[in-house]
Amino acid sequence: MSSANLCLLLILLVFSFHSWILRSQELTCNLNDLIALNGFSSCLESDIVGWSNSTSDCCTWTGVTCDNSTALSQRVVSLELGSNKLSGKICDSLAGLHQLRILNLSHNLLRGSLPTKLFHVQNLEVLDLSDNDFVGRIPAESHLSSIRYVDISKNSFFGPMDKNLCKTSPHIQYLDLSSNNFFGEVSPALGNCTSLQNLILAGNNFRSLPKGIFQLQHLSVLHLHKNSFSGPLSDGIGNLSNLVELDISSNSFTGVLPDVFGKLQKLEQFSASSNKFTGILPISMVNSPSLIKLDLHNNTQNGPINLNCSVMTRLMSLHLGSNNFHGPIAHSMSSCKSLSMLHLGHNNLRGQVPYRFKNLQSLKVLILSRTNLVNLSSTLKILQYCNNLTVLILSENFPEEQMPTDVNLQFRSLQVLSIAYCELRGSFPLWLRGCNVLQFLDLSRNHLSGSIPLWFNGFKYLF
Ligand SMILES: *[C@@H]1O[C@H](CO)[C@@H](O)[C@H](O)[C@H]1NC(C)=O
Ligand SMILES: *[C@@H]1O[C@H](CO)[C@@H](O)[C@H](O)[C@H]1NC(C)=O
Ligand SMILES: *[C@@H]1O[C@H](CO)[C@@H](O)[C@H](O)[C@H]1NC(C)=O
Ligand SMILES: *[C@@H]1O[C@H](CO)[C@@H](O)[C@H](O)[C@H]1NC(C)=O
Ligand SMILES: *[C@@H]1O[C@H](CO)[C@@H](O)[C@H](O)[C@H]1NC(C)=O
Ligand SMILES: *[C@@H]1O[C@H](CO)[C@@H](O)[C@H](O)[C@H]1NC(C)=O
Ligand SMILES: *[C@@H]1O[C@H](CO)[C@@H](O)[C@H](O)[C@H]1NC(C)=O
Repeated sequence: MSSANLCLLLILLVFSFHSWILRSQELTCNLNDLIALNGFSSCLESDIVGWSNSTSDCCTWTGVTCDNSTALSQRVVSLELGSNKLSGKICDSLAGLHQLRILNLSHNLLRGSLPTKLFHVQNLEVLDLSDNDFVGRIPAESHLSSIRYVDISKNSFFGPMDKNLCKTSPHIQYLDLSSNNFFGEVSPALGNCTSLQNLILAGNNFRSLPKGIFQLQHLSVLHLHKNSFSGPLSDGIGNLSNLVELDISSNSFTGVLPDVFGKLQKLEQFSASSNKFTGILPISMVNSPSLIKLDLHNNTQNGPINLNCSVMTRLMSLHLGSNNFHGPIAHSMSSCKSLSMLHLGHNNLRGQVPYRFKNLQSLKVLILSRTNLVNLSSTLKILQYCNNLTVLILSENFPEEQMPTDVNLQFRSLQVLSIAYCELRGSFPLWLRGCNVLQFLDLSRNHLSGSIPLWFNGFKYLF
């Protein structure tokens, strides 16, 4: 063998040894992480599909992702085992994944309390433990300095909120604590979580809101429904100029709604239903160009329903049912062209459905039960022009009127029709013949007589 050949062989050997080392590094996870994952899995009561009998290269295991940015250490950076029917408890060893950035164990059957150490994983950015059976308090001494996203909703956590949350986790953008048993005051420290965009506290037992909340300039989603908040809604809410969704329904708020909607120029959805709000609709609310969905049902609001439809062009869903609104239904409401759902039932309205309602071509659901309406015949003549109407509820109106007999009335898309509790006279409405996609029909508590036509048996969707 010549020295040149020997040299070539040596180079080849060195080269292949080098790439063998590289490949073996690519194939093996960090020993520390391997131990942590094995510890985690041994605390569970269920097996993780694809983990048993697998190689010691944990980077190839189901739900595990390693970081290959550096050739030297293959660290586990994410563990995503959502919806894997995992049961049992989480033990301390999981916190041994020092480089972990994403932990997603949502939609499982995990229970018990969370190990305190989990709240000290320095690199953790995303923590999703939602929809399990976890209990206990969130450790007061949490220190998740990289955290951006926390979802621990749909568990049974309890206790007040962590007071240090924003000191140790200043970059948090998404916090979902909904559907747990948290109680007391929402932590005033939240005012220092200046990056917060989504704050979801619905379905707990929180009682009061700290002022600091109204300083969160990036907040776009604020869900506070189904808690025990009471007293007036602070006009500080107007400071949250980036709000897109605000839901404060099913609490015990009282007083008048603050007239701050002019400042909430991005607000698309506002729900304050099932509270004890009184007073008229704020001027800035009925002049909001951004609102798409407005729900104030089940309060004691009064005054007229005076939407400025030349401005409210995006409004699709309006639910003002079960309040004390009064006066006739304004014909100008027919200029809210995007309206698809309109619920004004159970108010002290009066008069007739305005003729111009025939222009509401997007209307799918119209509920006007118990609103002191008169003239069923004209109501139906007008509404038949709303071609997309699928749900029409007119019950408890038109006292003792005559059931219209006009066979030319057309409601082709109608699936649900209720004209009950009206004491109507006359016979079974023959104009229903064209409504052959009808699924639900309620004509109870009227004084109709005569027979039900045979063609009615052919309504195959009715139940
Ligand atoms: C690791 O490398 C593979 C192949 O080059 C790539 O597909 C994968 O996305 C990388 N993973 C990470 C976490 O960077
Ligand atoms: C967690 O995993 C579930 C799937 O089980 C997924 O729907 C959810 O979006 C994930 N969470 C995050 C924060 O990515
Ligand atoms: C917010 O942070 C500042 C500075 O760290 C601190 O002085 C203040 O007390 C904090 N506010 C709350 C409500 O925790
Ligand atoms: C709302 O913003 C104004 C101006 O920035 C400020 O003076 C006021 O204190 C804020 N209100 C609340 C309740 O945070
Ligand atoms: C209406 O709101 C009250 C609270 O103001 C609540 O107790 C009640 O359950 C609500 N009713 C409906 C039908 O939602
Ligand atoms: C309705 O909005 C228009 C356009 O902004 C405005 O000129 C008008 O004054 C408003 N009407 C009422 C009653 O507020
Ligand atoms: C009526 O409904 C049809 C089918 O759902 C839809 O394509 C159409 O856009 C609707 N018309 C209006 C004016 O909303």
